[in-house]
Amino acid sequence: MKSSTLIVKNARQVLTMRSDQDGPRTREHMEDVGIIEDGAVAVSEGKIVAAGKTKEVLGQIKIDDKTNVINASNKVVLPGFVDCHTHPVFAATREEEFEMRIKGRPYQEIAAAGGGIKSSVRTLRVASKQELVELTLPRLDRMMSYGTTTIEAKSGYGLSLDDEIKMLEVIEELNRLHPIDLIPTFLGAHEIPEEYKDRRDEYIRLIVEKMIPEVAKRKLAVFCDIFCEKGVFDIEESRKILGAAKGHGLKLKLHADQLTALGGSKLAAELGAVSADHLEFIDDEGIEMMKQAGVIGVLLPGACFGLGMTEYPPARKMIDQGLPVALATDFNPGSSMTESMPMILSMACLMMKMSPAEALVASTINSAHAVDSAEEVGSIEVGKKADLVIWNVQDYREIPYHYGVNLVHQVIKKRGIFPQDEGANKG
Ligand code: NIG
Ligand code: FE
Repeated sequence: MKSSTLIVKNARQVLTMRSDQDGPRTREHMEDVGIIEDGAVAVSEGKIVAAGKTKEVLGQIKIDDKTNVINASNKVVLPGFVDCHTHPVFAATREEEFEMRIKGRPYQEIAAAGGGIKSSVRTLRVASKQELVELTLPRLDRMMSYGTTTIEAKSGYGLSLDDEIKMLEVIEELNRLHPIDLIPTFLGAHEIPEEYKDRRDEYIRLIVEKMIPEVAKRKLAVFCDIFCEKGVFDIEESRKILGAAKGHGLKLKLHADQLTALGGSKLAAELGAVSADHLEFIDDEGIEMMKQAGVIGVLLPGACFGLGMTEYPPARKMIDQGLPVALATDFNPGSSMTESMPMILSMACLMMKMSPAEALVASTINSAHAVDSAEEVGSIEVGKKADLVIWNVQDYREIPYHYGVNLVHQVIKKRGIFPQDEGANKG
């Protein structure tokens, strides 16, 4: 009999996210949440060792006085969310821009006038590593309190060799300090910094010849991303930067077709990117090319909501055409100031007509694929990390339905239980 350090039992529903389909889920498989009623999950050494009906699991597992037994009756258990697109490290919030946008000034106009990303660059450059770590930790706490256990985290507010490295080192330090797992992405091509305004080719050369080789050599990032957008980096420039990143062994992501139909989604397909993100203005050809090339579409409805846009990505069309879709917060101080994945699920259901099951698959197993980590996280399966969230609901559909509130009961991550139970065994 297997021994176990922790068992969650009697759950009204355990959503394992298991499916017959391997790889990222598509079409009707995006409805496969793998429900077990009266379910249990057993954990040992931070890994899942059994999942099934409570009776079956209890029959397989040896329980002793060291086993921490959590009764989840009248609750639902899910794998932790994988928030596969975030910009969590920043030095200052930008609520003045929020108010300007409400009063009618568009995001791109604020950016062109020196606000936007450039404003975050100015404040980040004068902040120390220690300050950035301290500012980001409570944001990670908030993410975890809403059920997120893994995030992808981007640089991109430094835009100089030293400041981009500083951001990636902050992400590395946060990974050591916080239970959440952070997957680092280099986003030196987020914007052309002010001092290179009239010398954009020189900045691109700096990225290609200095930043990417240094980031790759020091293994500070797993992915390289770019803001491929009209007025930021065009298709040709994006191809050059991402080509260099690929040559240095970085995996690729793109901010694509967010504000205009520039064709970033097609470039993602051409370059074999792991994901293309945003996609508000993608066309049918872009969807087809991404599908053929196995690129995941990461949808960020929080950025549409946060910018007051009326266009949301065509999620229904993507799913119906067979493109695997993932969801993320895009947490950042400019366009999407939220750490809450449940809020993103509500938007996905209401604004993009995804079903609750599709939205959950998109934020767990598919978002795990979008960060190339599905071997480890994204579903409740034997051998994967025991990243579990116990929800104060009777039915998983309540999570997107009951919006704007936190229905998380407890998060199990890295052998800790948050918030800690009275008398719980940390095993
Ligand atoms: O994902 N699109 C580019 N980057 C962010 C916004 C960053 C900012 O405004 O600070 C986004 O929406
Ligand atoms: Fe983003």
